[in-house]
Formats: sequence, C-alpha cells, structure tokens
Amino acid sequence: MTTPSLAPFHAPRRSDFASDFLWGSATSSYQIEGAARADGRVESIWDRFAATPGRVADGASGEVACDHYHRWPEDFDLARQMGTRAYRFSIAWPRIFGADGGAPNEAGLDFYSRLVDGMLERGLEPWATLYHWDLPQALQEQGGWNARATVDAYLAFVDAVTRRLGDRVKHWITHNEPWCTAIIGNYEGLHAPGLTDFKTALQVCHHVLLSHGRAVPVIRANVAEARVGIALSLHPLRAASASAADQAALARHDGLRYRWFLDPLFGRGYPQAIVEPGDMEAIAVATDFLGVNYYFPETVEHAPGDGPLETRVQPPAPGTAITALGWPVAPQGLTELLLRIEADYHPGPIYITENGSCYDDVVDADGAIDDVERRDYLQRHLAALKDAIAAGVPVKGYFAWSLIDNFEWAEGYRRRFGLVHVDFATQQRRLKASGRWYGQFLAGA
Ligand code: FCB
Repeated sequence: MTTPSLAPFHAPRRSDFASDFLWGSATSSYQIEGAARADGRVESIWDRFAATPGRVADGASGEVACDHYHRWPEDFDLARQMGTRAYRFSIAWPRIFGADGGAPNEAGLDFYSRLVDGMLERGLEPWATLYHWDLPQALQEQGGWNARATVDAYLAFVDAVTRRLGDRVKHWITHNEPWCTAIIGNYEGLHAPGLTDFKTALQVCHHVLLSHGRAVPVIRANVAEARVGIALSLHPLRAASASAADQAALARHDGLRYRWFLDPLFGRGYPQAIVEPGDMEAIAVATDFLGVNYYFPETVEHAPGDGPLETRVQPPAPGTAITALGWPVAPQGLTELLLRIEADYHPGPIYITENGSCYDDVVDADGAIDDVERRDYLQRHLAALKDAIAAGVPVKGYFAWSLIDNFEWAEGYRRRFGLVHVDFATQQRRLKASGRWYGQFLAGA
C-alpha cells in the first residue's frame, strides 16, 4: 500500500511541540483485556454480539484478546520504553457492576487500582475512559442506552469507579465516540447491540450525552482537581460536488455526524429536540477538555432512498492513499477538522485522544516489523497537528491508537493498529518500527 496522493513533507521533531505537550497511546478494555470471566466480570454486549454467528469476522471475540488483564506490566513497560508519559485506557463496566446495582465488585475495582499503580510506577499519567462500548448485557436486556434508567446505572458505576481511583486518576473521559455507540450499534447494526432502528439510535444518543453531562459533577465531587472531557469521533466533511443536491446532503450529514454531538455539548441544543426539561443544560456542563478521535475525512453525496437522511459517504477516489481498512490517509484533514472545531466552538484545550492506522504487518525472519506505512502515517499526522497548533488551535496532547494490536470490534483480530505487535497465538509483544520511531521522536530534540 503506497501513498500516491500524498505530498512530500518534513518529518516533525519533538521540539516542534511545546515542552509540556502530552504524548501518549490509547487502548480500550474489551479490545485488549481478555479474562472475560475473571474475578466476577459479567457478560457485556460485546461478548454477546461476538458470540452471535456472523457478527464478527472469523467468529473472533475479546474473550482472550491480548490477555492484558494478566500481561499489563509488559505492556506498560513498552509504553514506558517508547517514552510516552500518558496512557489512555478504559474501565470495563461489567467488571464493576451487572444489572442489579447493589455493591460494586471489589475484585474489579482492585484490578483497575493495580493497573493505575502500574501506570504511575512507570511514569504514565492515567487517562481513564469510563465507557468504551462494553455495556453489561443485563442492562441491554432492560433496554440498554435506549432506556433512561441506564443513565442512572451509569452514574452509579461512575461514582464507584471515581471514588476508588480518584486519588490517583485525575483525567477522566466520560464516553468514547457516542456516534459509534448510538448509530453504528443501534442503527447500522454493525456493532453491539446490533440493532437497526433509527429512532432507537437517536434516543440512545440523547441518553449517552445526558449521562455524560450528569457524570461530570459526580466525577468532580469524587476527584480533587479532576479534569473531565468526552472523546468524539469526528471527520472533516465535504460535499461530493457543488450541486445543490450534494450541498443539501452535506448539510444533513453534518447535522447528524458533527453538530448532533457538538452543538448540545456546547450549549446550542440539538438541530431538533427530543428532550426533557433540564437535559440540555446538563449536557452542556462545562468540561476541561475536548477529546478528538481523528482517522479520515468524509465526502458526502445526495443518495435518494439511502437511510433516513438520504446521504452517502463516497468511497475514496481511485489513487487515494488508503490503509488496510480502506480508510483514506489524509493528514491535512486533521488540520482542517481542528480549525473548524476551534472556529465553531472554542472548546478550550483539545487532546487528540485517538489517531492511528491499520496495515497488514509482516514479521521478518528476525522478528522485526518494518511498518513503514504506519510510521509515515504517524509522522504525517503529527506534522498536520503541528500546523493546526501553529494556526492557533489549543491542542495539548496526542494519544496514538493503539499501544498494542487488539480486537478491532467487528473486524476481529485481522486488523492491526498497534505500535506494538501482538502474536495472538503466543501473546508475544514486539515493538514495531512505528513504535521505535515514536520512541526516537519522543527522545529526540
Ligand atoms: C475507534 C475506536 C477504537 C478503535 C479505533 C480504530 O473508532 O474508538 O476503539 O477501534 O477506532
């Protein structure tokens, strides 16, 4: 996979960024932990989804994943070896609570407490995501995020976790990518719980945003000097053509994909309302940072009959550089997106909470993984980040997705995003060339 459409660029240097810029890597619980039945963990919607034939490629599941539950010291050593100073992880709700409320599972809390101590011992600042898609299955059976009661269940979970870890974890992300939770999981049906109902998806979206807003004061009450934000998956959006139909399609797509999340978070309400009194004020609670997950731009066309919005995202044009998942490689899209968000919302400090690339890695006879494309992707996106900062966007940190190869949701294990290679048969970890470069970059001037 080459990069034909990409312009020459200067590899960035660490000194191009502020000396206190935060450098990290990111993962999520279901994608790496495994140990699906250890220490009282209950079933999650992803366990159920993965166990349903035809839902995940190759019938894969997160049951073993990277066995990070037992191997985390080695993974944190690698994160440390690369020179990263922050680590974004998520907390598996099914390790802490099932559906019945009651007392939190101490063994689950103990695990995360050990994990956090392991990070701190290695100089990794913990950034905890409270929801990265692994809802307890029993809650799904009571309606999942479509039910308003799930907001209260989430607050109980958040309360238990932040009470226990708040003495050491100061940075909290309420939700990872509400779009994926709501739309991919409940309308497109490609992620757990695999539903295909648009109204449900919109209701889920509202409850997720509401749970964010109501969680923020809970976190602040439990954690001295808490810094709280939310991580959104965002794309720069363009119309496929200048035609009135494509321009109108772009406006509709933009309304759902971008403004449906950012407008209420920054106090402007939904493009249309489906809410109870007080909800919008709760969602618009002031946060300490905005997390942006960036992968690629979307080009939108008018598509009569296609979904409730009659829009379609075009596949990349022939000749466009793409990753092994077919996602366009467009580093300037990161600059464009950040400039737009800053102009639209002035959200305050922004952290890139995910950015990374999927390529088919080859392990050489000597065990090396020369993933030049991933290294190139990383370099180009850091150069684009530098441009956004130079243009005045207050980006304060960057978390590479991902520290280690992992369970890539519906794609199973065939899609690799890690800076560290994982041999899933032996669980052997090997730093890839991209990870080595990140380490050299962080060690350099
Ligand atoms: C994001 C998810 C993350 C990972 C990357 C590749 O949408 O937040 O878990 O799957 O994509």
